[in-house]
Parts: sequence; structure tokens; C-alpha cells
Amino acid sequence: MSLLEQIDRSKLPQHVAFIMDGNGRWAKRQGQIRLFGHRRGVKTVKEMLTVAGDLGIKYVTVYAFSTENWSRPADEVSGIMGLLSSAIDDEIENMMKNGVRVSMIGEMERLPKYLREKVAYVIERTKNNTKLNFIVALSYSGRWDIVEAVKKIATDCVEGKVSPDSINGDMFSDYLSTANVPDPELMIRTSGESRISNFLLYQLAYSELYFTDVLWPDFDREELYKALISYQNRERRFGKTSEQVKK
Ligand code: IPE
Ligand code: IPE
Ligand code: MG
Repeated sequence: MSLLEQIDRSKLPQHVAFIMDGNGRWAKRQGQIRLFGHRRGVKTVKEMLTVAGDLGIKYVTVYAFSTENWSRPADEVSGIMGLLSSAIDDEIENMMKNGVRVSMIGEMERLPKYLREKVAYVIERTKNNTKLNFIVALSYSGRWDIVEAVKKIATDCVEGKVSPDSINGDMFSDYLSTANVPDPELMIRTSGESRISNFLLYQLAYSELYFTDVLWPDFDREELYKALISYQNRERRFGKTSEQVKK
């Protein structure tokens, strides 16, 4: 049976999040500069959107650049920014054709102006697409997201719009940058690192985590199928017993 045939279409996650890691090591193995790996990484993103679209997965989030990544060498940082900008140019028509709605989460103020404008453009242009939601975490960190939510709630409390007693987990989610997006059921990290690296800290509370040694530029359709099969073979108990879940 092929990998695709092993996937139960009725038990797919709605939302898959990716920590796209290993571009630098991939490039090094080819004797190339790190940016070469980032460029190849864009290809994997395109493939993931195609597969997600084919399978009917509704939300795909990718960690493209973390708050911590600002401390990388300046030429790598500007190279990544340029790459993101040209990826938007190259892909916008494809995304329109495929019904992809783009949104961005993260500290947009830190982006160079030309990229901020391009990001605003792609968000506006794709806003009525409904087939697949593509969320790009850019200049993002999970702690930043939580701290921003706390600031907004505190402001609403001071202004009398919210009473402290009404604060709960669900309403807190609505203050995060991912408001209205279901939490990812599956989070995939490539390149053999088993950590969260300040990604969606609140949202990943009950996600299934899948770690693979495959480097992001080598991650492909078949690798995603393997991750989905692994996900489908797990029992999601949410604190209950196995017997309770099976009922
Ligand atoms: C992930 O690949 C992409 C970004 C963090 C922007 P890396 O650049 O972290 O690749 P490695 O981990 O050095 O191989
Ligand atoms: C995490 O990868 C961030 C992104 C994929 C954008 P890193 O390569 O920056 O993570 P660490 O530093 O190894 O934890
Ligand atoms: Mg890395």
C-alpha cells in the first residue's frame, strides 16, 4: 500500500504547523552558502501548500523567522528578507489560483519597510480566498505573542471593557495573534532538533509533535504523508484514560 493509501481522509488534522529547520546544514552539505538552503526551503513550502490543498487540510502555519533569528549575521538576515519578498512576488498568482489566504503573525514593525508593504499587499490581495489558510510566523515568538495578549487584556481591563473575572483560556486564545484559528493538531519539526524554539507556546499545548531527521529542503510530499500516518496512529487522550477515549 502506498503512503497516501494509508492515510485516513476522515481523520486528517485541520491545522498542521511546521518548524522549518535545517536549511543551513543542507546548504553546507552541498558546499553552498546558507542562503542557498533557505532558497531551497521555499520550494518545500510550496510543496506543502500543494499537498495540504490536495488533502483538504484547512490551515498550514510555517515558522519562517523567529524573534531570536534577528541575531543571525546581518547578511543572512537581509538575504532571508529578500527571499521572502521575492517568494511573495513569485507565488501570489499561484495562491490566487489555488484559493490560498495568507496571513502573518509576528512583530511586523521590525521588518524592513519594503517587506512590510509587500506583506500587507499579499494579505489584502488574498483575503477573500477560502480553500487554505496559510499563516506565516515572521519575526515571531511564542512568548512575544503571549506578552502582547496580556498587554491587550490589561488595557481592556483598565478601560473597563473586560472584567478580570471573565478571563479564561478561550478568551485568552482570542487575544493571541492566532485568534479564530484552531490550535494545530500536529506540529512537525525537521532536522533532528527536538525543541519548540519559542514557536506557538500557548497553541501547541495539546498538539501531537512529530520530529524527523530530514532537513527542511529534503522534506517532501512523502515525508508529510509519513507524519500524517504517525499522527493518525496516536491516541489523543487529552488527560482521559484510553478506555474513556475509545467509548
Ligand atoms: C531554518 O533553517 C530556517 C530559519 C531559521 C530561518 P536554519 O537556518 O536554522 O538551518 P540550520 O539549523 O542552521 O541547519
Ligand atoms: C527555529 O529554528 C526558527 C525557525 C525555523 C524560523 P532555529 O534554527 O532558529 O532554532 P534553534 O536556534 O536551533 O532553536
Ligand atoms: Mg536551525
